[in-house]
Amino acid sequence: MDEKMKFMPEPFKIKMVEKMGSLDKEGRKMAIKEAGYNTFLTNSEDCYIDLLTDSGTNAMSDRQWAGLMMGDEAYAGSRNFFHLQSVVREYFGFKHVVPTHQGRGAENILSTLTIKPGDYIPGNMYFTTTRFHQERNGGVFRDVIIDEAHDPAAIHPFKGNIDLNKFQTLIDEVGGKKIPYICVAVTVNLAGGQPVSIGNIKAVSELAHKHGIKVMFDATRCVENAYFIKTREKGYEDKTIKEIVHEMFSYGDGCTMSGKKDCLTNIGGFLCINDDELYTKATGMVVQFEGMPSYGGLAGRDMEAMAIGLTESCEFPYISHRVNQVRYLGEKLDAAGIPMIKPYGGHAIFVDARAFLDHLNQNVFPAQALASAIFEFSGVRAMERGIISAGRDIVTGEDHYPKLETVRLTIPRRVYTYAHMDYVAEAIIELYKKRRDISGLRWVYEPKVLRFFTGRFETINEELIKGY
Ligand code: F0G
Repeated sequence: MDEKMKFMPEPFKIKMVEKMGSLDKEGRKMAIKEAGYNTFLTNSEDCYIDLLTDSGTNAMSDRQWAGLMMGDEAYAGSRNFFHLQSVVREYFGFKHVVPTHQGRGAENILSTLTIKPGDYIPGNMYFTTTRFHQERNGGVFRDVIIDEAHDPAAIHPFKGNIDLNKFQTLIDEVGGKKIPYICVAVTVNLAGGQPVSIGNIKAVSELAHKHGIKVMFDATRCVENAYFIKTREKGYEDKTIKEIVHEMFSYGDGCTMSGKKDCLTNIGGFLCINDDELYTKATGMVVQFEGMPSYGGLAGRDMEAMAIGLTESCEFPYISHRVNQVRYLGEKLDAAGIPMIKPYGGHAIFVDARAFLDHLNQNVFPAQALASAIFEFSGVRAMERGIISAGRDIVTGEDHYPKLETVRLTIPRRVYTYAHMDYVAEAIIELYKKRRDISGLRWVYEPKVLRFFTGRFETINEELIKGY
């Protein structure tokens, strides 16, 4: 076996399969129209290849399924909690673990306990639910990611890094006392799944701690981040993924985690905290909103699957295939000149919708239109990550105009093969030839919060893809 093959085959065998959707062209046209040109509102069974998200869409292993059968569904003190706690402590190194139903449950607890109205929370680019919880508690989010992250074409090995000058400027402006923590996302989802280097994490940690500011990680895709460190950062080539994850988190004070990503499960999350006092408060909150601190809104079996999934996720053949599958799709599209965020990230390819649909202004929602057109054309379900996701300024009510206007082709873990990626690439390359025929969109219904989930649109022209 030649392990130096450019793209090694999937590191798993398939023993259970699921039928894919098979709507014809007319069916897809009707489905996307009925969904108000919002892929979030289409039905799963109407999709051919579902690249909406990598969240909770993972295929679990036989070991995880076996673990489900070992669920201890006691109300308190479930053995699966203790297993999860010991794995998280071993891999992440944090002292306390509070399970939550998913990542945003942990974000809710962290934000509520630490943010006072008028506080500032710096972060390496926003994430929708993360910023929502910060703002809900009266905080002001401040983006301190390096400038390169906002430029789809800028090449940087660690495009998720924090700009220390931006962070320092905020400290000078408002003082450390008004900054309860800095949120360091590893990797940065909306920047294109871009990683943060250990060097940067260390420097951020030093600066933050000097001013009494905590470092809280968004650990959601931390294993993907560790893979990039191993393959891109000098001195880490020979370390294991587990060692790198552990080192990354050794510079922080805790993390929020969506287990639905790098724990390879379909549900679950947790909050980690080193501070004893904060942990005690977190247990007080978790009982109000999630459940006992030993289950946090999860069944015992879910915690078991998460514990096993985290260890599998850190195995090199798994994570190497994972990231390379994303690159495989990226390289196919790149060869045909499709504009994308580069370098390719850990969980998705982000098509640059502004460049793809260069005849549309951002105020007719190019990324929303492109995601709809991809669905209509191929049955591939993707997601808008642009002006609709960015929402409105909480004070002025004006739309945020993010520099990145993208469609995310998100690859679920262990679900699709390279052959599926070939189909996706071919469909998008064909659609690119018709790009000028794609119509912009306008609002029919705009929800007040997290509007991308349930908003509805109509086409400005008569058809979404003219003549298709
Ligand atoms: N942080 C990041 C970086 C995320 O990507 C997500 C979810 C969360 C926090 C919230 O976690 O969904 O378990 O409550 N991202 C999903 C996505 C929804 O499609 O990117 P959750």
